[in-house]
Amino acid sequence: MSQQIDHLLNEDRRFAPSPEFAKNAIVGPEIYDDANSDRVRFWGEQARDLLHWHKPFSDVLDWSNPPFAKWFGDGELNVAYNCLDRHVEAGRGDRVAYHFEGEPGDTRTITYAQLTDEVKRLANVLTELGVGQGDRVAVYLPMIPEAIASLLAIARLGAVHSVVFGGFSADSLRARIDDAGAKVVITADGGYRKGRPSALKVNVDEALSDRGEGVQATVEKVLVVRRTEQDVEWTDGRDLWWHDAVPAASADHEAQPFPSENPLFILYTSGTTGRPKGILHTSGGYLTQAAFTHKTVFDLHAETDVFWCTADIGWVTGHTYATYAPLANGATQVLYEGTPEFPEPGRWWDLIEKYGVTIFYTAPTAVRSFMKQGREIPQKRDLSSIRLLGSVGEPINPEAWMWFRDVIGAGATPVVDTWWQTETGAIMISALPGVTETKPGSAQVPVPGVAIDVVDEKGDHVGNDAGGLLVATEPWPAMLRGIWGDPDRFVDTYWRMFSDKGYYFAGDGARRDADGDVWLLGRVDDVMNVSGHRLSTAEIESALVAHEATAEAAVVGGSDETTGQAVVAFVILKESFLKTNTAEGLAEELRAWVGTQIGAIARPRDVYIVDELPKTRSGKIMRRLLRDVAEGREVGDTQTLADTSVMSVITKQVR
Ligand code: WTA
Repeated sequence: MSQQIDHLLNEDRRFAPSPEFAKNAIVGPEIYDDANSDRVRFWGEQARDLLHWHKPFSDVLDWSNPPFAKWFGDGELNVAYNCLDRHVEAGRGDRVAYHFEGEPGDTRTITYAQLTDEVKRLANVLTELGVGQGDRVAVYLPMIPEAIASLLAIARLGAVHSVVFGGFSADSLRARIDDAGAKVVITADGGYRKGRPSALKVNVDEALSDRGEGVQATVEKVLVVRRTEQDVEWTDGRDLWWHDAVPAASADHEAQPFPSENPLFILYTSGTTGRPKGILHTSGGYLTQAAFTHKTVFDLHAETDVFWCTADIGWVTGHTYATYAPLANGATQVLYEGTPEFPEPGRWWDLIEKYGVTIFYTAPTAVRSFMKQGREIPQKRDLSSIRLLGSVGEPINPEAWMWFRDVIGAGATPVVDTWWQTETGAIMISALPGVTETKPGSAQVPVPGVAIDVVDEKGDHVGNDAGGLLVATEPWPAMLRGIWGDPDRFVDTYWRMFSDKGYYFAGDGARRDADGDVWLLGRVDDVMNVSGHRLSTAEIESALVAHEATAEAAVVGGSDETTGQAVVAFVILKESFLKTNTAEGLAEELRAWVGTQIGAIARPRDVYIVDELPKTRSGKIMRRLLRDVAEGREVGDTQTLADTSVMSVITKQVR
């Protein structure tokens, strides 16, 4: 790793904004001084400028009971009103909110007025189904306009959404429904992916069945969008079709104000222990920082720009930058249902050309897979509308950054590398495209109003040209407000490590270069980053061990050219199974098993069947050594192993 870092830090290419870009930019360098002179006043101004408050706040930040923050605590607003009605009332109802394109090629153009109408009807339907302030609603949908409408309608009622990624299994869905105590599920018959309709409703049915455990799910109603027209089972009294209920509902619905700290959503993310954590976000602070960063980091000119964030709504990026922030800012977006390869590689570039996308925000894993396919594919399309590129999800290698800028950005477009997390709610570290001289591979500087640092294990600032742990030293408006139902775990996970300083620990390693710019180095805990998605080793290990053939399992992240990291599993089988099965057959079966237990994204790239796992005397699995094996390196120091011969046996078995 350290060699790699040195290499990174010797990266000396620099790209200043063009004078033209800087001149037209939404913000200039003075914004940093403004924010630094008084962070709290600064955020108060942003909240007033960017949002409509039904009841103005007088108190910006209440940090009297850390780490439980209140932002704009005595203010009241309606998140959906901010994203919809106020634009229509200001005469911008005809502006396109979304250019939607389904994977099979069906399209819909949805204006702000139309989206507002749909959301009002849906809000009436949900009210009818018994959803009110504080109730939880699970959303399990493909990337279709109904997904966006669902989030907004739930928010409009002051209820709380919990989106479950459509690629997750029935098991994952049920665990999330149970944890949140969801009352309603919104789903679809299926969605299109890689040219095929993939089923969703059937997973909901399975998730809600008693599954032999005799425990009833909390869900009372299931609202179903018809998308693929595949056959579905129907539970009378519980299930209802969207196309029956929503168009028939009244389009009159007045948005009520809710307190700034009213919960807005829960989103589950992997932690170091097995159980996913329900990250809780609230309303006013979240929307303020979302809108602020979207406007400044992406230099949004709402009247002329066409913004496309490729993230699925199942991840936080889809919440903040494909839904809330762009809508709050009145932007026009592209929404695409499917994969970049269908019907052939280049589909994304076709969409950029077709809709004249000006700002394009995606993940390094996607950029790397395009690099592999070759520049000929994007070069066949007219991408000249693009004026800004963004990256998120994992460190972007300088080569991928350069390729992105050269091939997609015609060698001239600024690239902003944005660091943030489900927990931070919105972008925390990024260049500002009209201000910062960018460096390929570095996220660089905190956004105005955000305070971050790189510290050593005692929490002391490491200075320039040094590495350490990334922390936030001050509360920020979009910060998570907790872990659903588990305040102790919230304090333990994020605030215990530097409790004497009151710092938030992000779980990432970072380095400052000689200029003080920040370079992200990846997770320091047992969380992997596969294609920009966080997966916990413990969660996948639990799934492996749940298979009847498995005696013990250890999972590590091995580096992977395309996905950043890949899941690599080491499994000890029960003796009885090896007698009747081949190791290869079982390895394949276990890969598929993880796919059905958690979802395809968690399926291991490699499953190695081994006789033993490396353990310390206290019985802890030494993942560091397995990582060496997974990456084909010489195995590191084995002195603390209980049995030092284990590693040579494992290495032989793996080869
Ligand atoms: C990683 C996604 C380097 C990081 C918004 C973080 C990044 C985790 C970057 C959060 C970036 C995200 N450079 N690493 N620009 N962006 N990460 O919760 O390890 O899905 O902790 O949020 O992704 O992933 P999450």
